[in-house]
Amino acid sequence: MKDQLAKIRAEALAAFEGAKDANRLDALRVKYLGKKGELTAVLKMMGKLSPEERPVMGQLANDVRAALENALTECSQKLEAATLELRLKAEAVDVTIPGEAVSLGHQHPMNIALDELKDIFIGMGFTVLDGPEIELAVYNFDRLNAEEGHPSRDWSDTFYFDEDSRVMLRSQTSPMQVRAMDSMTLPIRIVAPGRVYRKDEVDATHSPMFHQVEGMVIDKGVTMADLKGTLNTVAEKLFGEGTKTRFRPHHFPFTEPSCEMDIQCHKCNGAGCPTCKGEGWIELLGAGVIHPRVLEMSGIDPEVYSGWAFGLGLERLALRRFRIDDLRLIFENDVRFLEQF
Ligand code: DAH
Repeated sequence: MKDQLAKIRAEALAAFEGAKDANRLDALRVKYLGKKGELTAVLKMMGKLSPEERPVMGQLANDVRAALENALTECSQKLEAATLELRLKAEAVDVTIPGEAVSLGHQHPMNIALDELKDIFIGMGFTVLDGPEIELAVYNFDRLNAEEGHPSRDWSDTFYFDEDSRVMLRSQTSPMQVRAMDSMTLPIRIVAPGRVYRKDEVDATHSPMFHQVEGMVIDKGVTMADLKGTLNTVAEKLFGEGTKTRFRPHHFPFTEPSCEMDIQCHKCNGAGCPTCKGEGWIELLGAGVIHPRVLEMSGIDPEVYSGWAFGLGLERLALRRFRIDDLRLIFENDVRFLEQF
């Protein structure tokens, strides 16, 4: 029995040392120290010993058990330490390695210009509206006094969705005037920025998709003088004090009288240069006093209320605001260009 105990002790200690992980170690614990383990089996045979031998063997067996338990604890601590060591190595971050720079984007120049414009109008009590790019021809044309046969309704100019030319990609933000009249209570002061679509080829000044900002005021006693006063203030806030403007007669179906507003060329101060194509002035927007028929179609009495409206091309506004000379730069989104703003 003595030999047996010595053998178990030697075997178990060697096995514990060799265990590679906690599971294996636990299996070994069961193998040697468990209820059906090898040491227990030997102890069960104690009854067969003589009364003199029994205490001696009992003592020996206890020593072996204690030695195995100690070895187990030690081995399991060693394993834990080794696992922790491995994990720390695997998860280590070398803070001395140079980091990868994260390049942060920023606002597109056109949106910078739009934000400035919105701020100016919000400061004057206007509400900013958003509207659908897929629009009904009724809103885009009919209720703006551009009836069947109006040249702008032509298939060669407009993206229609159906044979009957009823649903379309809006060709202007002006339908937002009608939507505002339908949904808001008077008086109304709104600006409505957004995308518009026309069948144009891309060149330095054209794109089949571009952005407009619509503006409209309806109240009692509103006149052309209010239009001029407001738009002159906006031009000065946007382009700097003393910016000169000019209003030229024009025609739009939904305004009467209608005009276009130019600002004096910032490059040559009106003398004429390549930027303004020798004109001295740069066209900024279309505007006018709202046609009484447009008000009537929306159920507003033109004898009581009057209004003015404008529509401007946002890309062109941004070109002027940041003195850029080619529209395509706005759409190409070359970061080397965009980063300059
Ligand atoms: N919708 C016109 C266009 O796309 C621009 C315009 C002109 C808007 C006069 C207006 C306006 O609100 O009063 O050419």
